[in-house]
Amino acid sequence: MALGKLDGKVALITGAARGQGRAHAVALAREGADIIALDIGEQIESVQYPMSGPHDLDQTATEVGVTGRRVMALQADVRSQEALDHAVRAGIDELGHIDILIANAGIFSMGPFWEITEEQWDDTIAVNLTGVWKSAKAVAPHMISRQAGSIVMTSSSNAFEPGPSWAHYVATKHAVIGLMRSVALELAPYGIRCNAVCPGSTDTGMTNWQGAYNMIAGHDHGTREDYIESTRSFNALARTSALPPEAVASAALWLVSDDADSVTGIAVPVDAGHLLLPGRNLNPVK
Ligand SMILES: NC(=O)c1ccc[n+]([C@@H]2O[C@H](COP(=O)([O-])OP(=O)(O)OC[C@H]3O[C@@H](n4cnc5c(N)ncnc54)[C@H](O)[C@@H]3O)[C@@H](O)[C@H]2O)c1
Repeated sequence: MALGKLDGKVALITGAARGQGRAHAVALAREGADIIALDIGEQIESVQYPMSGPHDLDQTATEVGVTGRRVMALQADVRSQEALDHAVRAGIDELGHIDILIANAGIFSMGPFWEITEEQWDDTIAVNLTGVWKSAKAVAPHMISRQAGSIVMTSSSNAFEPGPSWAHYVATKHAVIGLMRSVALELAPYGIRCNAVCPGSTDTGMTNWQGAYNMIAGHDHGTREDYIESTRSFNALARTSALPPEAVASAALWLVSDDADSVTGIAVPVDAGHLLLPGRNLNPVK
């Protein structure tokens, strides 16, 4: 059997029930890692699209199982330090150690900043920023005791640019870069690395819902075709469209593998060149 880049490693992945989280789980398992797949598996009320359910987490476990690697599927909320600490303890008991964290769980919602509710604001900060901190906090003592580990935090191209009506989301994704760089600096003396992936428009449940289609189309009857078409002007790179989650997983796999063993503290755009594009005012000044 071919040697995997992650043979003997164990990875904890948050938001693993579907989308990018599932792609991370399968990509790392294919390279030999055992997986702790964690997801809330239920709706957060302020999120405007259907989130994943327990059946999605089961599907991730099935797909990891097909690779021959071991998998633990845990329903847990990254807003709870207790739940994360428990997941880490259970993972170490069952699989021996944790080498990798991909802090990927995230939520999105839309609205002008003066109209989003306090609940939307608080939930988005709690999951996308505080949840990433709590996830890193849960694994750090274990990684420090082993003087080894690699963390990837999921940010976004919204770490580098605003969006027209998701200030709360943009604020979290900017903040994750600051958190990532601080964690990278604080863990460097222990030989532990921390980096971020910054996806562009990625084809998951977060981007495929009626409200997102309508926002893109500019009317109430937007479609998936409108979404796919819009990525042609969002991206710069030929032959790309809405990015498959596997594109982000490939970048994360590189970051957590020994191929990147001298890389820490960086934010890697995976955006088909979106951030290269010169700005253009879609609402020309009058
Ligand atoms: N899809 C995009 O275009 C895009 C672009 C840039 C960044 N991102 C980021 O990528 C990450 C993954 O998103 P995705 O595109 O796969 O979307 P997704 O909605 O398909 O997956 C997100 C997963 O996170 C889980 N989750 C949400 N809140 C949680 C919580 N409190 N505790 C545990 N799990 C929770 C959800 O249940 C879901 O399974 C997110 O951080 C998102 O912000 C997405």
